[in-house]
Amino acid sequence: MKLLVVGSGGREHALVWKLARSAKVEKIYAAPGNAGIEELAECLPVRIGAANYPADLSDLAVSKEVDLTLVGPEVPLADGIVDHFNSRELKIFGPGRAASAIEASKVWAKDFMSRHQIPTAAYQVFDDSEAAIKYVTERDVPCVVKADGLAAGKGVTVAATVEAAIMAIKQAMVDKAFGRAGDKIVIEEMLEGEEVSVLAFSDGETALLMEGARDYKRVFDQDRGPNTGGMGSYSPAPALTGELSGVIRTQMLIPTIKGLAKENRPYCGVLYLGLMITKTGPRLLEYNIRFGDPETQALLPRLRTDMVTVMQACLEGNLGRIELEWHKESACCVVLASGGYPGHYETGKEIRGLDTQKEGVFFFHAGTKRDNGRVVTAGGRVLGVTALGPNRSEASSLAYQAVNKIAFEGMHYRRDIGRVVSS
Ligand code: AMP
Ligand code: GLY
Repeated sequence: MKLLVVGSGGREHALVWKLARSAKVEKIYAAPGNAGIEELAECLPVRIGAANYPADLSDLAVSKEVDLTLVGPEVPLADGIVDHFNSRELKIFGPGRAASAIEASKVWAKDFMSRHQIPTAAYQVFDDSEAAIKYVTERDVPCVVKADGLAAGKGVTVAATVEAAIMAIKQAMVDKAFGRAGDKIVIEEMLEGEEVSVLAFSDGETALLMEGARDYKRVFDQDRGPNTGGMGSYSPAPALTGELSGVIRTQMLIPTIKGLAKENRPYCGVLYLGLMITKTGPRLLEYNIRFGDPETQALLPRLRTDMVTVMQACLEGNLGRIELEWHKESACCVVLASGGYPGHYETGKEIRGLDTQKEGVFFFHAGTKRDNGRVVTAGGRVLGVTALGPNRSEASSLAYQAVNKIAFEGMHYRRDIGRVVSS
């Protein structure tokens, strides 16, 4: 088969790496890809978000005789790329625009959870900043302020004080820091507990849970500093016990898939549940309509099952026949970021040490590109260094040993990935 993978991050490199191991795959294209993906796939220069990019991608799928397209990031899915490919009878793996509302609108997602009795944080929706400010001032308790629409992971503020909540409300609704994504906001109860990411494959009728993973969102050790796209991850996640998986499946995953089908928004693809494990049980914080980044960089090296077979089963509505098999080893992924990230950073710095990769270690490229034969930085998150080990602590040590061999100007990373269970 010929495959096309849409995206350019570490998640997409891990996806391409996994797909390249499938006996069913003869050729992979990636759009736009990065310097690591280039070693496994032919990269095609289509920029996500450029004018008419879904049509450009479908034209490529036709001209390159692609059998199946896989979409990494949420933006093309929320833009309706799946509906567009389907209208041209091209096979594509991911949810359509209607089902994508569960990530594309936090207001829609919360109302959906409430309609289907899915356990989540208590919330209120506002489309007026003064009413929102009055609400947080009167309540005077920690809360979480969320811009309704897609904001590249930056639209959520966990506000410990009323002042912080008011700042977040103004940032979204008055300063329009996230554009139209902040026209409405959700203000919700702040929950405490351990966070776990649970991903599942779905064929629209049923769903298959993957093993658990944990990501680290804050930029500095011990979960300090601002949120980022993700500074590291590990899998499996001990917080996700077999019993808890059962609860998540029956109270969250299946009601979501059935609820979407009932509301005429069938969901085929990967569904990501972002959970807080509280003292009184799991609560759903958010949905993502895609693989997590960097959870995927820790999950996929552990997945034994052929991913093309799973994607085909999803598209054919046959997922009930599949069982996922996992390597017993743990995986830990440390993200190396550009100096200044998640704020302003420079690019174009040469990355040294990429030739030191050993067996059981994976250098998943994120923001990288080739420049006159050298590989240079081209984004905030540059590389995800994943290592497999007999347990999490050894996987973490092996990942850090590999990290020590990589260098670029300004490089920074967390030193506690897989080492401290942060809350
Ligand atoms: P979201 O995009 O909704 O997952 O939010 C991003 C991050 O904000 C989550 O991964 C949590 O760390 C945090 N967060 C979101 N909602 C809550 C909540 N209700 N209580 C505590 N933390 C939250
Ligand atoms: N790791 C969080 C995300 O992919 O959104």
